[in-house]
Amino acid sequence: MKKLKQKNREFRKWHKKDLLGLRELSKEEIENLLQTAASFKEVTTRQIKKVPALRGKTIVNLFYEPSTRTRVSFEVAAKRLSADVINIATEYSSVRKSETLNDTGRNIEALKADIIVVRHNAAGAAAMLSRHLNISVVNAGDGWHEHPTQALLDIFTLEEKKGKIKGLTVTIVGDIAHSRVARSNIWGLTKLGAKVIVCAPEILIPPEVEKMGVSIVADIDEALSQSDAVNVLRMQFERDQLSAFPQKLEYFKKYGITQKRIEKTNKDILVMHPGPINRGVEISSQVADGPNSVILEQVTNGIAVRMAALYLVAGAKNKDADI
Ligand code: CP
Repeated sequence: MKKLKQKNREFRKWHKKDLLGLRELSKEEIENLLQTAASFKEVTTRQIKKVPALRGKTIVNLFYEPSTRTRVSFEVAAKRLSADVINIATEYSSVRKSETLNDTGRNIEALKADIIVVRHNAAGAAAMLSRHLNISVVNAGDGWHEHPTQALLDIFTLEEKKGKIKGLTVTIVGDIAHSRVARSNIWGLTKLGAKVIVCAPEILIPPEVEKMGVSIVADIDEALSQSDAVNVLRMQFERDQLSAFPQKLEYFKKYGITQKRIEKTNKDILVMHPGPINRGVEISSQVADGPNSVILEQVTNGIAVRMAALYLVAGAKNKDADI
């Protein structure tokens, strides 16, 4: 037992102040995050779901864009670790008085926070903040760049369901070009040895995406027939770039994940979606709520994954505490 705890502590060694993206992490660092998340998932099944790991630490959620799942699960995760949590609603903060992100971050640091969790519409916002601050920064989604904890919870769910990542084939379908979820998933899955297929209308495939180690399959039925899982992205029709794209119904006909499509393929295919879902646009209600869907399990796993992210970056003296 003592040896096992020692091994767990060794495994949880973490040297990074921040979690900014999966591109910059090694396979071992990703595995460390996933294994730590697995320990925390066990904690969430206990009668008392709280551990003292981050007692005395203050975590600030600084969200410049709307969020339900990410913001709430970071808050739940921080509370389960016994940290104090402060949520800043930017529309009611000095951001409205033109305060820059950097100044806001430096003031939060001056207020003695230990970790800032930031979501911003500009790619690189989290990295910029991390360069100017001594405290930890966790990226909760920056523009089209990365959404590391979303990809980690997707991969965690996939591994939980399939028992492995190496050797699996995962199709990501939808707006790949504008998706931070797609980018983080591609970096994470390929590092762990999965094959990634991207499937989308040509205008939504980023140039040179193959250099990230993925293959492009234009036909969704063909992509699904090769896949163990499909990660369905939200179609962001509010974007100008999509105004030229044929109407929603046409997209649904060509790329929508329907029960008929699922039935034509391997019945064990997992259906994932980062949310929020556009029912009848990229996925049918029958599939979203059906037996292949793990969408709500992804949301639940987000708590353990975010507990792991906060715990590892905290670099706290009490990191050696048993969890
Ligand atoms: N998946 C995701 O980032 O959802 P929210 O925008 O609700 O946080």
